[in-house]
Amino acid sequence: MNIPRQIPFARPWITDDDRKAVMEVLEGYILTHGPQCKEFEAEFSAFMGQGAHCVTVSSCMAALHLFYLQFGIGAGDEVIVPAQTHSATAHAVEWVGAKPVFVDCDPCTGNLTPEGIASAITPRTKAMCVLHFAGIPCDMPAIMALAERRGLKVVEDCAIALGARYEGRHVGLFGDAGCFSFYPVKHMTTGEGGMFVSRHEPVAQAVGRLRAFGVDRTHSERLLPGMYDVPSLGLNYRMSEMQAALGRSQLRRMKDVQAKRAELFGQYRRLLGVMKGVRLVDSTDPKAVSGHYCVSVVFEPPYMAKREEIVRRLNTAGIGTSIYYPQPVPRMTFYKKKYSIEPSTFSNASQLSDHSVALPLGMHLENADVDFIVAALSDILKSLS
Ligand SMILES: Cc1ncc(COP(=O)(O)O)c(C=O)c1O
Repeated sequence: MNIPRQIPFARPWITDDDRKAVMEVLEGYILTHGPQCKEFEAEFSAFMGQGAHCVTVSSCMAALHLFYLQFGIGAGDEVIVPAQTHSATAHAVEWVGAKPVFVDCDPCTGNLTPEGIASAITPRTKAMCVLHFAGIPCDMPAIMALAERRGLKVVEDCAIALGARYEGRHVGLFGDAGCFSFYPVKHMTTGEGGMFVSRHEPVAQAVGRLRAFGVDRTHSERLLPGMYDVPSLGLNYRMSEMQAALGRSQLRRMKDVQAKRAELFGQYRRLLGVMKGVRLVDSTDPKAVSGHYCVSVVFEPPYMAKREEIVRRLNTAGIGTSIYYPQPVPRMTFYKKKYSIEPSTFSNASQLSDHSVALPLGMHLENADVDFIVAALSDILKSLS
């Protein structure tokens, strides 16, 4: 029987080594507060390079929340955030009582620009959160120069940008902190999980306490079991030992993951580059190395209004898809109601949300799959023109 090809949009890459690493933790009975998280933090620091101090956390959103708590950002403060992002980027600002101020993106990369950020700064602005969209690094030196001139804190939302570098420096190491996600469809996974990264050791140490009830001593630092103090308020945003063991095992393969994603993306770029009526979200900046998170294809005339039909036909052909992101965050009901923002303000973000599709990219694909996907897309476009 001829089984039709099925290519999911994304699929976590779990190997026998990963399973073994998790099972070893379960056999040892230390499920939290153990050596796996510490080792994962050290190995992630080595992967990032350039003096990264890392703190394992329960998710990227937890890391973002911790950033605002650590820097005392709250009621009466404004934080500049991208309109084209996941709701988590804005939610973290809301949860500390500050106001997210949405800024439209560059139409080609989906990233914030220094000019866009500058136009949104007010006397109440305390910080900005920049997202590296689709894995493409923002122009961080220019953004940091602006932030320093205006005295603003910077957090980099690196949820979809593992492996991305600008002028050789890994994203997350430009701002005051970077926040990573290990959700299953990301470059690597711990199920749920994330990493808070900072160039500043005292910031990482303080966030380490904040994510664990505000307790002053970790288990290994206690002179006697059970002896600790709580000098400040905290949360429980810890990662478990099973998650950390999985993360360590996954991280060992990150070089392979990056190389394969870059190669497959290059293939998509070549094939889609000659296709009429579509453009790829991509960067031409020679200083930028993308983490190649996804292949976002934007439909132009005559296909702009036909995105839903194109997606339906791709899915019927066995090709999984997604949309990054399904709506600019200020158009989502919570934000629309709360801030009554005029949606036309975000025309570039809206173009990505309303007229693009994200195609599969990851370790579950071979070159032949990319050929198949692009050929299927080409046939669908021809039949719709
Ligand atoms: C840009 C961005 N930020 C934050 C998050 C939240 O990540 P997590 O699920 O680890 O909290 C996501 C999730 O996909 C994301 O895309």
